[in-house]
Amino acid sequence: MSSITTRHFLQSAGILLAGLVLAACGKQEPPAPAAGASAPAASAPAPAAKVYVVGTDAAYVPFESQNDKGEIVGFDIEVVQAVAKKAGIEVKFINTPWEGIFNSLNQGDRDLLVSAITITAERKQTMDFSTPYFDAQQLIAVKKDSKIAKFNDLKKLKVGVQNGTTGDEVITKLQGKDSPNIKRFEATPLALKELEAGGVDAVVADNGVVEHYVNNNSGTQFKTITDASFSPEQYGLAVKKGNTELLEKLNKGLADIKTDGTYDKIYAKYFGGAGAKAPAAAASK
Ligand code: ARG
Repeated sequence: MSSITTRHFLQSAGILLAGLVLAACGKQEPPAPAAGASAPAASAPAPAAKVYVVGTDAAYVPFESQNDKGEIVGFDIEVVQAVAKKAGIEVKFINTPWEGIFNSLNQGDRDLLVSAITITAERKQTMDFSTPYFDAQQLIAVKKDSKIAKFNDLKKLKVGVQNGTTGDEVITKLQGKDSPNIKRFEATPLALKELEAGGVDAVVADNGVVEHYVNNNSGTQFKTITDASFSPEQYGLAVKKGNTELLEKLNKGLADIKTDGTYDKIYAKYFGGAGAKAPAAAASK
């Protein structure tokens, strides 16, 4: 008798489980399992929560890059993970080339972007930004023996930038939009490689990335030059224009990680110090 009961129990449990699995496979995308994780059905009972898709151009160490295992890692990634935890939302990161990254937001392929994106007045017209989470500035990289001493010296020289970045903007302003001396690359590391190869005289890019490259590629004989004409920049998380629901969650999460010390910890891990550069929540331009 007990064996019948057990069989009945197992049967109904099986049906129940199948139902749950089916429910979890409906409409919403289940959270992508981490590489090497077991089948997603194993954790099916919880109702599938919305997973926010985060686009990031993961060729921007130390902000976002892919490690040997192909995982997307970096300062920006940890900030968004911490923000998501506070906001009670699930996120998954998808490597998204810079070219077209903003489009992916408009088309709904990505829910938010984290990519060391500078908040600019122009971009604010087509997307919404969170409160700033990082202070940055342009920085010039040149060969150690270069005679270049200031930004203005680049007026007639070959300069490498990542296409469509704020580095591109400053050099475009100096040389003019159609200057043949501006070499626009799809990714910042490609511009830096070109500097190494001697194809350009300088690279203009975000300070954090340039500094990291100069300090971590012992083979590169670069030095950096800062210039008073570079205006301060601030990074923000971008969402589709009008997505206030998500934006509010992100801003709340950002405020929380700034006050509870999480932000400072992540900052110190990547940049040393005690998060002195955490921008004030209200500051924005
Ligand atoms: N901060 C610069 C900008 O917003 C460059 C950002 C590039 N980010 C990246 N992950 N490639 O224009």
